[in-house]
Amino acid sequence: MYAPSRVKLVEVGPRDGLQNEPEAVPTAVKIGLINRLAAAGLRVIEVGSFVSERWVPQMADTPAVLAGIARAPGTRYAVLTPNRRGFDEALTAAADEVAVFAAASETFSLRNINCSIGASLDRLGAVCAAATAAVMPVRGYVSCALGCPYEGDVPAAKVAEVASNLHRMGCYEISLGDTIGVGTPSQARAMVEAVAAVVPIERLAVHFHDTYGQALANLVAVLDLGVAVVDSAVAGLGGCPYARGATGNVATEDVLYMLDGLGVETGVAMAPLLEAGTYICQALGREPASRVARALAARESACSSAGARRP
Ligand code: HMG
Ligand code: MG
Repeated sequence: MYAPSRVKLVEVGPRDGLQNEPEAVPTAVKIGLINRLAAAGLRVIEVGSFVSERWVPQMADTPAVLAGIARAPGTRYAVLTPNRRGFDEALTAAADEVAVFAAASETFSLRNINCSIGASLDRLGAVCAAATAAVMPVRGYVSCALGCPYEGDVPAAKVAEVASNLHRMGCYEISLGDTIGVGTPSQARAMVEAVAAVVPIERLAVHFHDTYGQALANLVAVLDLGVAVVDSAVAGLGGCPYARGATGNVATEDVLYMLDGLGVETGVAMAPLLEAGTYICQALGREPASRVARALAARESACSSAGARRP
């Protein structure tokens, strides 16, 4: 199989992960997490959203998060912006990059942002124009790229159409989201092939949730096509508030372990990444969803008890 020699990891845990937490996560904890992720070598970190507090209360402290982090040189701190108001607030809060989000399913679009796909693209066009004028990089998401929680199957042609619109509006990268983690490798491959026919593959990222345990297999299938940007969340945090039952993104630790094994460079180091995962899992009072994090912790604890038994 083919894999690119280098893959860019986009860490979405502080946003996509924490937006779904039932309890409010203290701002100081979010800041601690983001600083640890940057220390692990992640160079693009999605830190929050400028969305309605009524819709997603967990992201209401995004201005305080941006004000509190220690900005690591060479690291871009990105936020989601659904409309012009969100963009203006992101600019004021000195975000380095914004992301706009549309869906390939009409029902999901209505549930997530309260408007049709067409109306959302008009709204996002205004955000992209403002971002271009402000020389702010803007990324685009297409949700439900491999299935919708309300409509079921989503045609790859619809994903390609929405992605192509976002690309034309000025998004420098389009992230294709399997929001509910239902896709399998041949579907993932066919969807990326359909989008790559209208948007250059160097401009594509994949954003796989791991609900059905398919995310790593799907990644291998699309790395083989030349996709070289992967979204992931430390400890496999998250889900989506408008996709009930969807679990978190593929865990950054699991993706890193696989890419290290394939000899693909990422610039991310496992030990500090594990520390970031342990930090947030302790704060949330739960085990990491990452299989790699759990396996390495078990190995570490077996080694320390063997060391302790040695005379
Ligand atoms: P609406 O109700 O249609 O619009 O919401 P509205 O203009 O009537 O505004 C409603 C309220 O929000 C008003 O406040 C506005 O002032 C306020 P109220 O008068 O009720 O007090 N408002 C805002 N507040 C803060 N920041 C703003 C903003 N805009 C309006 N920018 C809207 C439309 C888009 C605002 C709403 O639907 C919304 O915020 N949705 C956010 C949904 C969201 O964040 N979903 C999760 C992220 S997407 C995702 O996770 C998928 C992804 O990971 C990829 C994948 O996995 O596939 C990206
Ligand atoms: Mg997501």
